[in-house]
Amino acid sequence: MTQSPDAQRPSPTPIRVDAEVLENHRDAGGNHCLTLEIPGWPGAEPGQFAMLKPGGPEESDRTDPLLPRPMAIYRGHAPAQSGGAARVDFLLKVAGRGTRLLAGARPGEFIHLVGPLGGSFAPIARGSRALLVGGGTGIASLYELAARGAKGAEVEVILGARRAEDLMGSDAFEALGVNFRVTTEDGSRGLAGRVTDGLEDALAAAEGPTTLYACGPTPMMRACAEIAARVGVACQVSLENTMACGFGVCLGCAVPVRSGGFSLICRAGPVYRAEDVVWEGLP
Ligand SMILES: Cc1cc2nc3c(=O)[nH]c(=O)nc-3n(C[C@H](O)[C@H](O)[C@H](O)COP(=O)(O)OP(=O)(O)OC[C@H]3O[C@@H](n4cnc5c(N)ncnc54)[C@H](O)[C@@H]3O)c2cc1C
Ligand code: FES
Repeated sequence: MTQSPDAQRPSPTPIRVDAEVLENHRDAGGNHCLTLEIPGWPGAEPGQFAMLKPGGPEESDRTDPLLPRPMAIYRGHAPAQSGGAARVDFLLKVAGRGTRLLAGARPGEFIHLVGPLGGSFAPIARGSRALLVGGGTGIASLYELAARGAKGAEVEVILGARRAEDLMGSDAFEALGVNFRVTTEDGSRGLAGRVTDGLEDALAAAEGPTTLYACGPTPMMRACAEIAARVGVACQVSLENTMACGFGVCLGCAVPVRSGGFSLICRAGPVYRAEDVVWEGLP
């Protein structure tokens, strides 16, 4: 059984490819925007991800890192023109060895990529209202959803971080022309506090069909799920559990679900209806 949201669009068939690094920009706070040139890129839907591992055709036996790392597809969801390659952006934050190696990849080097993987957010319905809440590295998953939704719906985006320099992609969201706010826990940019502060009031005051979309640290998404349940608003979340394989073999990404048992977020997720997740069972 799948716990993914209804009305997801069909996912493009994933490819396995060596992608050349075109750019790798560093921001403050250990954030990087990695741009890859991906031959034969089939395109992606908002919320999908790819497994990335440094090393190209000459390094197929490379063991550092042993396993690829999951990264949300940030920008570049259109498929490559026939026979060509597409530019695809990833926003990454250095967390440990794997992301440090990705952050250190230079233009001209290669990254082994498998993707796009997983399911997507259900599209924002025309004429509806959507509130997108992103925290930490979860921000990357929401950009394309906001960009597409902004064409026919009322879209509000709230991005949160501990401090201003930890914020990822805020200029790009701002340029979309959506209703946009930032919160930082230390007050160094935007409103001081958590990204979920004031969310309940904002949702309760919303008129017409409204959906809450959330991606970020588990406690943030759990808070979003609880608020949405209290005010009776539909909520979709994109989980960011640790993954080893990305395609349903290692069972390392299992999450407990209300229907019983576990769901593999790399296959049935990473996007779920918030009420389908057993939040108390997540680390
Ligand atoms: C579907 C999905 C999409 C993701 N998208 C992005 C993205 O767009 N940008 C981005 O920077 N990161 C993203 N992540 C998280 C990223 O994959 C992890 O930060 C990365 O795998 C850590 O690898 P590492 O070797 O650098 O760190 P490790 O050495 O493996 O771990 C270092 C520290 O990070 C923690 N950590 C490891 N994995 C995760 C995780 N999944 N979530 C939170 N903490 C973790 C560990 O507990 C440890 O404390 C995503 C994860 C998933 C599952
Ligand atoms: S990451 Fe291996 S089963 Fe999901």
